[in-house]
Amino acid sequence: MILQERVDLTASNTLALPGRAALYASIVDPVQLAAAEFRHRPRFILGGGSNLVLTGDFDGLLLHMAIPGKRLLREDAEAWYVEAGAGENWHDFVQWTLAQGWPGLENLSLIPGTVGAAPIQNIGAYGLEVAERFHSLRAWDFEKQAFLMVDRNDCRFAYRDSLFKQEGWHLSGRMAITAVVFRLPKVWQPNTRYADVAQELAAQGIAAPTPQDVAAAISAVRRRKLPDPAVTPNAGSFFHNPLVDRAKAEALAADYPTLPRYPQPDGRFKLAAGWLIEQAGWKGKNLGPVGMYEKQALVLVNRGGATGADVRRTMAAVQAAVHEKFTVDLTPEPIFL
Ligand code: EPU
Repeated sequence: MILQERVDLTASNTLALPGRAALYASIVDPVQLAAAEFRHRPRFILGGGSNLVLTGDFDGLLLHMAIPGKRLLREDAEAWYVEAGAGENWHDFVQWTLAQGWPGLENLSLIPGTVGAAPIQNIGAYGLEVAERFHSLRAWDFEKQAFLMVDRNDCRFAYRDSLFKQEGWHLSGRMAITAVVFRLPKVWQPNTRYADVAQELAAQGIAAPTPQDVAAAISAVRRRKLPDPAVTPNAGSFFHNPLVDRAKAEALAADYPTLPRYPQPDGRFKLAAGWLIEQAGWKGKNLGPVGMYEKQALVLVNRGGATGADVRRTMAAVQAAVHEKFTVDLTPEPIFL
């Protein structure tokens, strides 16, 4: 077991923020997790670092999940059950399932990060959340020193949320997800409800898209709107789209008739944080080395040389501007370490 000390994490987070881990190890096999030195606290489990704000040095043990592997576990009349190691790159995994002829994840193409991280914040895009394709996961429980299986019904999936984000679970380092099983139904229909996706397919002259067509269209839309972290460091959407009650949505719509608002099953309305930020004057605006992206105001970007403190400063300024104009509070989507 190789424990490294004072490891630089700048290249391990897609916002490219500087910081070091006091102790660091890369996990390539689940059995490694039982090693005594990994009982160390505090402990943080890192995937692709694409949903992370590194606020400085981490004075603890950082375990980088690099467990590989992808395979068909089984199939029945209705679905394929496909398993992947936590360290597999999410987009590569999605493309692999499509190449095998097992569609169902194509709307989640090009989302940065790893398979193991996908259920934690219930990644979602273009009308699909991973919860809809999730079957179960396997994780190492550091307290019980045992593997546990978690089924879909126990995950408490919600919009960008799950059990694993709750107090005492993944984020406190209690457990490390080692593998995820997806259930991909054999009956497939393209999900092109999102206007951006429908427009892209229409522009390409595709009326009856294959799963690969949908994946390609979504990749094209994302490439147009979202910055490539390798070029412009970012962590995707920086805030949740806020949920407000009906009265609040109606009051805002009376003042701002073009306000995007989406009714939710629970009677509330989801607003578009990107729209609110743009209206508050922050699209393409910077404070020091951190700004909001010019093509998608919901994406916070590191213009070069930023620290966690710089991110906090811009985040607070954007939250204040949106609150002042709309009395809506924006909560950050990434995890702060
Ligand atoms: N909008 C603006 N100005 C902007 C950005 C957006 O007016 O600068 C408006 C758009 O015109 C649209 C609405 O806001 O009316 C929603 O925008 P968009 O469709 O781009 O999606 P989003 O709500 O900003 C969410 C997810 C994305 C996901 C897309 C597509 C969240 C926090 N974000 O963004 O997820 O890719 O929908 O489904 O839910 C991520 O979580 O990192 C992420 C990229």
